[in-house]
Amino acid sequence: MSSDPGYQAPTVTVSSSIPRRGVGEAVLIVPVVTRDDAAAVAASAPFLDGDAVTEIETALKALGATGGEGQTHRLVVTSLPVASVLTVGLGKDRDEWPADTVRRLAGNAARSLDKVAAVLTTLSALDLEAAIEGLILGSYRFTEFRSDKTAPKDGGLRAITALSQEPKARARDAAQRATDIATAVATARDFVNTPPSHLYPDEFARRAKTLAEAAGLSVEILDDKALAKNGYGGIVGVGKGSSRPPRLVRLTHRGAKIGRKNRAKKVALIGKGITFDTGGISIKPAANMHHMTSDMGGAAAVIATVVLAAKQKLPIDVVATVPMAENMPSATAQRPGDVLTQYGGTTVEVLNTDAEGRLILADAIVRACEDDPDYLIETSTLTGAQIVALGARTPGIMGSDEFRDRVAALSQQVGENGWAMPLPEELKDDLKSTVADLANVSGSRNAGMLVAGTYLREFVADGVAWAHIDIAGPAFNSAGPWGYTGKGGTGVPVRTMFAVLEDISRAG
Ligand code: BES
Ligand code: MN
Ligand code: ZN
Repeated sequence: MSSDPGYQAPTVTVSSSIPRRGVGEAVLIVPVVTRDDAAAVAASAPFLDGDAVTEIETALKALGATGGEGQTHRLVVTSLPVASVLTVGLGKDRDEWPADTVRRLAGNAARSLDKVAAVLTTLSALDLEAAIEGLILGSYRFTEFRSDKTAPKDGGLRAITALSQEPKARARDAAQRATDIATAVATARDFVNTPPSHLYPDEFARRAKTLAEAAGLSVEILDDKALAKNGYGGIVGVGKGSSRPPRLVRLTHRGAKIGRKNRAKKVALIGKGITFDTGGISIKPAANMHHMTSDMGGAAAVIATVVLAAKQKLPIDVVATVPMAENMPSATAQRPGDVLTQYGGTTVEVLNTDAEGRLILADAIVRACEDDPDYLIETSTLTGAQIVALGARTPGIMGSDEFRDRVAALSQQVGENGWAMPLPEELKDDLKSTVADLANVSGSRNAGMLVAGTYLREFVADGVAWAHIDIAGPAFNSAGPWGYTGKGGTGVPVRTMFAVLEDISRAG
């Protein structure tokens, strides 16, 4: 449906005071800290008068609230023009608050509200952007397939008023940036949350095209015939077990014409787009196989990020190369033991059809390197071993040493918390095949995340600084909601990749 506008964020306004009128139905979100074992209102001095502060603190005391991290309380405060106040605990008082703490607590607050259309907040006095991002992301809901169509797409939140005393122009920029970033994360979440019945390669490609064209990007789509003709053996091999044929989508943002042409860097983004991973003939066990609806989380993040780069007019060239396939077992599926030829000519013995991500990614990496990028970032729900090594919330980042560390540092800064991992030379020996140039898996369970990274490294052109971000766990929250992250698609690592693109725009 090309008329679907996609995810629409609540409208965001920045104001230097609480409006006296028109907020009678709104909820005011106020941060509180622990001071002398009691809850004390924080960061709200310019916006709340003494009466309001006293009323809030007295009510919290009566409830036994201490301002502990993440605690929320809903209060009726008669000295304010709003319907109610939602306090959110920041924990022990301190001078500075990390952005992600503000983002997380704003998310907590937004998640605790239901059927509230308008909020005001003073969390924005701590960090304007983080507060807005947290509120938008915390209010995200995926209701597409609910019969009750009265539940709006975003849980009901339509308007955010962030209270801030920052200069007008700066505040407006910050609000726009936060809205754009949160919209990109929500867009990636929508893709991940859309079930495999409704999101298969051709449909995924079509939706990516609609979104990208609306943002002014140029779009190229290779269908199954073009893929076979041009030698994309990995994508064709993985896709051939499905009745729904594979695609390769390329989305281009030309920022060089915005910035200084000769200094503009070129960045390649690549994301794994397996719209469902049954494992193929090397089929997965039934328990939790439905989580493999998230196996296009890398593709979702990459598509959302290149669109965000265009919206934010980054003065660099960004080209997303996104392979899409459905990994199914059937009479036409590839077999364990088959040999395929990756784009560019490397032959591979497919010992396990469930190690399909690296097969479609290798084709995409070789294609992306033909454009001579300065940097290449690839992200994928690549290995269960990532979850074993780092858990469900910590992406593993591999690649060329310097760039990998730069990406990991930025990932920490934005609160996605990726961690640098090595690619030990000796692991390459584990990928030897008796019949082809490479095998797609090693014979042991050791270091599965790093072996997959080692496989990908074989396809990156010399001289390209690259990073591989394994998000098998972090792309999809199958546990309880926390902070600004609900169940299902998380949108990781959109904010990491965008931070890297911004950093490259600034520093080269
Ligand atoms: N998509 C999976 C990896 C995955 C596992 C993502 C759990 C999210 C949660 C990937 O295609 C896969 O099946 N990897 C295999 C590799 C193995 C055969 C070497 C794995 O991790 O078991
Ligand atoms: Mn697999
Ligand atoms: Zn997979």
